Parts: sequence; C-alpha cells; structure tokens
Amino acid sequence: MQVLIAYATRHGSTRGIAERIAERLRADGLSAEARPAAEAVDASRYDAFVVGGAAYMFHWLDDATRFVERNRDVLAVRPTWLFSSGPIGTDLVDKQGRDVLEVSIPKEFPRLHGLIRPRGEKVFFGAIDPDAKPVGLAERFMRVLPAAREALPRGDFRDWPAIDAWADEIAAALRAPVGAR
Ligand SMILES: Cc1cc2nc3c(=O)[nH]c(=O)nc-3n(C[C@H](O)[C@H](O)[C@H](O)COP(=O)(O)O)c2cc1C
Repeated sequence: MQVLIAYATRHGSTRGIAERIAERLRADGLSAEARPAAEAVDASRYDAFVVGGAAYMFHWLDDATRFVERNRDVLAVRPTWLFSSGPIGTDLVDKQGRDVLEVSIPKEFPRLHGLIRPRGEKVFFGAIDPDAKPVGLAERFMRVLPAAREALPRGDFRDWPAIDAWADEIAAALRAPVGAR
C-alpha cells in the first residue's frame, strides 16, 4: 500500500503537517511519502492519497487544487483525504460564535468534494512565522501596516495530537479489509 501525501505550502508549515502524517502512516506499517503537490508525479503508482494545502484569503493554495483537478480520475476511485492548514490562534470560536475550524474550510472544498468524493476532509490550525519573508501583496501589507500586523496572531498553532489522530484514522481505514473500507 503506497500512500502519497501531496502538499502545497507557502512558508513550510503545511509541509511539516504532511511530513508528520507520512511519518505516522509509516509508523502504522504503511508505505508513505510526502511530496510537493506541484511535482509531476505518476498518480497511478499510488494506492491512496492525502492532499493538503495552506489556506490564504479563504482559498486553498492553487498547487493543491490543481493536484486534485489534474489527478481527479485516479483520486475519485482510490481512497483520498483532503486537509487544509490555517486558521491561526488559540480561539476555537470566532466573534460570531462559529467554530473556527468550520469557517476556515477553503472555498474550493465543496467543488472538489463533488469531483472526487474524498473519504474525509479536515482543517488543522496552522502557523505564522513573523520573521518569514513576505510572499504576495497581502503579506507585504501586513508588514507595513501595524493594524494589519496586529490583527493576525503569530506563532505555531499546529495541533500535533489532532494531526496524529487523523493520520491514525487514515491508517486504520487503509488497513481495513477491502470490502470494509
Ligand atoms: C495573509 C494571510 C492570509 C491568511 N488567510 C487565511 C485564511 O483565509 N484562512 C485560514 O484558515 N488561514 C489563513 N491564514 C493562515 C495560514 O493559512 C497559516 O498561517 C498556514 O499555516 C500557512 O501555511 P504555510 O506555512 O504552509 O504557508 C492566512 C495567513 C496569512 C499570512
């Protein structure tokens, strides 16, 4: 059972989540590797997929979306899970009382769900390194506008127990007898 964890990242924290999932699946006895979603891989070589990307401005990073679109025929018929990284901070609910993880589901997920019917979709808390070189207009604004800079919490909020637990669920599903998967 070969599992590909394809990831899209801007600053590296989503790669960390993808690598952790790969490690955990290997510890659970599966063969798993994490690779950038932008790499041209032959998806037919893999038996199952986890596709993860960071969310920016409510959208999943393009490389993750394109990976799913490019490989939709394979992903639709082999076990596939999607995850998004972001939000940041320690609040579990937003100012309107809504579950932060739920409102952070990237806008692309409903459409991608329709395309490939993944086994599961998950949102994990992410990370912001205040010293990382800004990428794109929004991040450059954050650097120069104090109000924007203060609006976003900074730090590493990745929830490793939640990530490990999800990886274990995936491993259990993949180890289940074929008819039960
Ligand atoms: C300018 C900016 C916009 C962001 N927008 C969102 C967003 O819309 N939804 C979300 O859940 N997280 C958002 N985040 C948080 C990132 O998704 C989070 O920092 C993520 O872990 C970054 O992953 P990466 O290190 O792999 O690039 C944003 C972060 C920045 C800096």
